[in-house]
Amino acid sequence: MTISADPMSPLKRVPPLHTAVDVSIANDPEIQSLSPSALLVGIERLRRQRQAVILAHNYQVPEIQDIADYVGDSLQLAQHAQKSASGVIVFCGVHFMAETAAILCPDKRVLIPDPDAGCSLAQSVTASEVRAWRQEHSGAVVVAYINTNADVKAEVDYICTSSNAVEIVASIPTDQEILFLPDQFLGLYVQSRTGRRMHLWLGECHVHASIRPEDIDRLMNRYPDADLLLHPECGCVSQCLWRLAEGELPADRTLVLSTGGMVRHARECISAVDIVGTEIGMLYRLRKENPSKLFVPLREDAVCSYMKTITLKKVYRALRDDVYPVEVPTDIAARSRDAIERMVAIG
Ligand code: 13P
Ligand code: SF4
Repeated sequence: MTISADPMSPLKRVPPLHTAVDVSIANDPEIQSLSPSALLVGIERLRRQRQAVILAHNYQVPEIQDIADYVGDSLQLAQHAQKSASGVIVFCGVHFMAETAAILCPDKRVLIPDPDAGCSLAQSVTASEVRAWRQEHSGAVVVAYINTNADVKAEVDYICTSSNAVEIVASIPTDQEILFLPDQFLGLYVQSRTGRRMHLWLGECHVHASIRPEDIDRLMNRYPDADLLLHPECGCVSQCLWRLAEGELPADRTLVLSTGGMVRHARECISAVDIVGTEIGMLYRLRKENPSKLFVPLREDAVCSYMKTITLKKVYRALRDDVYPVEVPTDIAARSRDAIERMVAIG
């Protein structure tokens, strides 16, 4: 399977984040004086005082997952934010996820403990690039993956997540030209599942793009009976689909899943070993919830440095100092809300 490069979209490769030392935390005498257990007690006290809810993505570091009220994938977190009765949401994930919660919950205060928690994929497309792409293809509809910034979401017709991208594209009338952004690998996967031809933006996530077919061969040789769970952003997905069709990979044991789908699969399936192709934080939750199973990462170095910027100290600071509020300009929120609500409702 090949990607036909759209002239508007040369490959958009955004380098990973190199985290600088957070000076304000390092110079905060109160936070620096807290022992690990005092920090946990402090978070609990502040959480109750502020009647806040702590939401965490499946890639968060173990200690954040352990204190969260709810851990989930990007769709589940958006749904949970919307349902939550709390007026304050501490969002332990990356910025576009917190923005989505802020758009869905205009009456709640959404805080992100570190504003540098970005996303290389979301940064691979801007709102003005979407407008220009649309002009090149007048009449086309634009489908955006949730991993986009709010001003990009405001320019598009449909928004999807890794768990509902196939359903959303399949629901679009078949004679409609479609522009899909920003992840080329998810786009290829959706094309192969729906049979729809789409114009693909050549963006990628630097973590998942680095997961290659060679990684699968190495581990499938070692664990021939394992289930293979792949996130659709992985750079190996399109080749895996081709190899599935050729019978080179087991059809009943190769699954392309969102991070929430991986959690469900691990719970419900009897496989003794699961090979996991996604960001390494996922492994903590899978192992914690399924202690009798073996989970093997496709790549140990698949680490999202953006996700790892969130720490317990920063969660404490977020609750204590009411930082960092995620505020989306009203016109951008209004223009993106319908598409986000539709995506949340489809589930
Ligand atoms: P999920 O929606 O599957 O949680 O994925 C989000 C993400 O950022 C993957 O890199
Ligand atoms: Fe973005 Fe990739 Fe990190 Fe997911 S893993 S948040 S797509 S940079």
